[in-house]
Amino acid sequence: MTDVAIIGGGVIGLASAWRAAQRGLSVTVLDPAPGSGASHVAAGMLCPVSEVQHGEEPLLALSMESARRWPAFAAEVHAASGRDVGHRTEGTLLVAFDDDDLRALEELRRFQEALGLEVSRLRSRACRELEPGLSPRLRGGVLVPGDHQVDNRKLVAALWEACRRVGVRFEPRSVTRLDEVHAERVVLAAGCWSAMLEELPVRPVKGQILRLRFDPADAPLTRTVRALATGRCVYLVPRADGELVIGATMEERGHDTTVTAGAVHDLLRAAIDVVPGVSELELVETNVGLRPGTPDNAPIIGVSTDDERVVYATGHHRNGILLAPVTADAVASILTGDEPPAVVAAFGVGRFRR
Ligand code: GLY
Repeated sequence: MTDVAIIGGGVIGLASAWRAAQRGLSVTVLDPAPGSGASHVAAGMLCPVSEVQHGEEPLLALSMESARRWPAFAAEVHAASGRDVGHRTEGTLLVAFDDDDLRALEELRRFQEALGLEVSRLRSRACRELEPGLSPRLRGGVLVPGDHQVDNRKLVAALWEACRRVGVRFEPRSVTRLDEVHAERVVLAAGCWSAMLEELPVRPVKGQILRLRFDPADAPLTRTVRALATGRCVYLVPRADGELVIGATMEERGHDTTVTAGAVHDLLRAAIDVVPGVSELELVETNVGLRPGTPDNAPIIGVSTDDERVVYATGHHRNGILLAPVTADAVASILTGDEPPAVVAAFGVGRFRR
């Protein structure tokens, strides 16, 4: 019998499997198609500061801790797999398209500064000096030097290889009941499908997202840009190899994975307002990811309150890629009886069961 069965081969399941196997546990990942869900569709932004929201300060502490672990995590995954994960550290630029957008961005900047986060206000011209592809119509921006990115698809492939090299087994099958899984411990890392296996407040939050291609010698952007464009939010994430990811909608539509004309139109319209050169790029993919949302937008990490055999690592909503390092370290520590990172203590399932 395997020591640990991990239900779900997305970034959280794979990272947890790798870390647990590194600590000497025998690990099996159960997933009919590892790495094909939200982890594949994601943009790979590592943006705790840019995405901070009022009322989500506990999540910020977790996100900042995971962001702190990212450079070493990326280097270690690369070394363990022989595969680059496309970690880029140029920072993130937030921009505002019109005066109302600028007021909203200024309000966000004041909140970020009040939290002691590193941000700096830029005039429109300074934004365009950093990113000449930006529209001259922009009203201003905020530079967030500590918000980085990783290529989520390269990451998943590298984690899979790192798992394979450390002896993790893969069983390509779905699980319908946890009590049918034969293992000492079971880690539930099934993203938005977790609530089908356990009574958890995790629901799918649909995100439509686009992938375009550019000539790397003529990049429209060199760093992630997140824009408010006449009230619409859009992000543009350029990869070094010529991929540009543009996202994403936030929709409550259950498990629906339809790509709609309206969403593609709205995302492209906002992106082209902000970076006019986007209109010339090849559109190579439209896709949908189902984020595992929770009532407080934060993940559920820790032992089940009903069954000590079961460990939860789910509900990462918009932040699965960012939170992978700290989640995987926490899961591996729980499984080996070590102390998990202190910052994880606030994210047990108990907060929803009081
Ligand atoms: N973290 C970006 C998104 O969920 O769209």
